[in-house]
Amino acid sequence: MRLALVMALIPALAWAEGETTVIDPPAAGSVSREAGLAAFDRIYEVASHPRCSNCHVGADNRPMWSGPSYGRTRPHGMNVNAGVSRVGEEYVPCSTCHAYREGGNNAPHAAPQVAMNWQLAPVEAAWFGRTSDEICAQLRDPELNGGRDALALAQHLDHDLILHWAWTPGGGREPAPYSLQEHVNDVLAWGAAGFPCAMDEE
Ligand code: HEC
Ligand code: HEC
Repeated sequence: MRLALVMALIPALAWAEGETTVIDPPAAGSVSREAGLAAFDRIYEVASHPRCSNCHVGADNRPMWSGPSYGRTRPHGMNVNAGVSRVGEEYVPCSTCHAYREGGNNAPHAAPQVAMNWQLAPVEAAWFGRTSDEICAQLRDPELNGGRDALALAQHLDHDLILHWAWTPGGGREPAPYSLQEHVNDVLAWGAAGFPCAMDEE
């Protein structure tokens, strides 16, 4: 029992130390605006992908079921509502079905059980159904992104265990595009270019 617990914690600790990606920011000003915009286009593809946006939802506090493996787009079944707690405290806690389990629950249509108890992202980080410009404006604004600069955003991605699921979700789900390392590189490049958004030109 104790051994199983220790084994379960080893990968979690390795990730928490940021060992899965290289965080090597380009020098400020060394990335052109054009390259920064191209990096953001890829960031948007990731952020708006179901593996991310299904949890990054708005103030109705309802996770989404969307993407090809779900057939059609709809709110999470079984009337699941995360409440303002974002963890389902007021109704049925997300952890009832989405608590960490070794092996992760790989069967199609089973509840993902990866890394930690699941919860919705903060309302300020709502991405589901939003445009590229909207997500761009949110993600570069420290008031809305948890007070983070590009380096802190990249480090957060490397630390966030859920993200390791999004690129290897199993259960027949489509992984998020690119890779965690490419996404980290894009966030760093976008920051080094000064966080350009396409709408800035207008
Ligand atoms: C299981 C739900 C879940 C999934 C799936 C998920 N996130 Fe999150 N995300 C969260 C939670 C919870 C937080 C707030 C935790 C924190 O800030 O430490 C968060 C915060 C963030 C933040 C911090 C910035 C901000 O605006 O608050 C970024 C960046 C982020 N997620 C990126 C992603 C990306 C990219 C994906 C897909 C590859 C993804 N997330 C998938 C739940 C999720
Ligand atoms: C009664 C069990 C149950 C509860 C409670 C529950 N879920 Fe789920 N959840 C599931 C199942 C089962 C699936 C997978 C359905 C499928 O693949 O067809 C799922 C899928 C998801 C997905 C989609 C993941 C993807 O593939 O992109 C998200 C996001 C999610 N749940 C978040 C939550 C959050 C947040 C809570 C708490 C507010 C919660 N769930 C509560 C059972 C549950």
